Amino acid sequence: ELAYPFHGPHQQGITTPRQASGMLVSFDVLARDREGLDTLLRTLTTRIAFLTQGGAYPQRDPRFPPPDSGILGPRIPPDGLSVTVALGASLFDDRFGLAPARPRHLERMQGFPNDALDAARCHGDLALQICANTLDTAYHALRDIIKHTPGSLLVRWKQEGNVPLLPPSPGDIDGSARNFLGFRDGTANPSAQDKALMDELIWVDPQRDEPDWAVGGSYMAVRIIRNYVERWDRTPLGEQEAIFGREKMSGAPLSGGVEQDVPDYASDPEGKITPLDAHIRLANPRTPETEKNRILRRPFNYSNGVEPNGQLDMGLLFICFQADLQEGFITVQKRLDGEPLEEYIKPVGGGYFFVLPGARDEQDYLGRGLM
Ligand code: HEM
Repeated sequence: ELAYPFHGPHQQGITTPRQASGMLVSFDVLARDREGLDTLLRTLTTRIAFLTQGGAYPQRDPRFPPPDSGILGPRIPPDGLSVTVALGASLFDDRFGLAPARPRHLERMQGFPNDALDAARCHGDLALQICANTLDTAYHALRDIIKHTPGSLLVRWKQEGNVPLLPPSPGDIDGSARNFLGFRDGTANPSAQDKALMDELIWVDPQRDEPDWAVGGSYMAVRIIRNYVERWDRTPLGEQEAIFGREKMSGAPLSGGVEQDVPDYASDPEGKITPLDAHIRLANPRTPETEKNRILRRPFNYSNGVEPNGQLDMGLLFICFQADLQEGFITVQKRLDGEPLEEYIKPVGGGYFFVLPGARDEQDYLGRGLM
């Protein structure tokens, strides 16, 4: 049974190998003062430390509500669970006197030109990214946390998804999956196993111009991106591949080879092989100046039912991590603005959050450096 260690300099759920199921839940914080917020952070820490390691819950007592929802049975398996706690800009709006401690790049997500943001699925004071091998484990963790935080957390929105993991292929470290447009997704991610690279791109370190408490944390950008799958399924294969800049089945660059091969843009300055406006070429032009804009993507596919017009409501719960939100997600998304893929996608929700540094040991708790 897979249990990821809870204590450490960073939280789980970022460089942790992507689980098959993921959920993003955003909350309003109802705690009224710093003390209430402190209690909330301690409670979250205790619950997550327990849930991620698993165990039995106490004996039944018919006079009280059961201590656990019971949906996983009498013994809770860890099931690869990770619960990642992050804060939104609105938490620093100064109800808690935390304005001076706000991570420097943490801001309220502004709409991009192709967005049609639904206010009911945007922003939030606090977000949990809950991932596990099965969605049931994620639902169980969410219900446990809600049960233990009455009066201090109120769910604002949530979105869950899944990824069909592919058997690892040679040279493939993190594992890529297919998204709902049928392409392999995750191919060119910086390797989460490469600690030095993660220190450079993903984790806030003391060299960054950030408050001391933020060291070990990371920025999380979340986007709920609807895919127009019916239209996509009627689009010629050649056009689909030109839009992404990769072969659909193999995931290889358009110059051929295998998924892990790196496209060579220097020898293709006019975009005869990989179009200049292909998704991957805009997202990462692979020049020395754009190396610092690399992000760690960790998305999940979602399917929410049916729109009133009979179209399937399917898409990508896009989640990415970076040490600097401006240089990471915001810069990359600005380069993607106007890309041909926009005809088939519509961002409808999401938000920006700052992932708290990890709890180092039993005495520590998530967010202690802020209190
Ligand atoms: C690469 C799909 C949205 C950033 C890719 C690839 C696919 C893909 C198929 C190529 C395989 C790979 O390297 O993973 C999608 C879909 C999206 C979406 C279907 C929306 C529904 C976004 C957004 C961003 C983004 C919102 C960031 C703002 C990137 C980056 C790469 C990439 C950085 C890697 C490029 C490289 O290094 O070669 N995406 N993507 N994508 N995407 Fe997206």
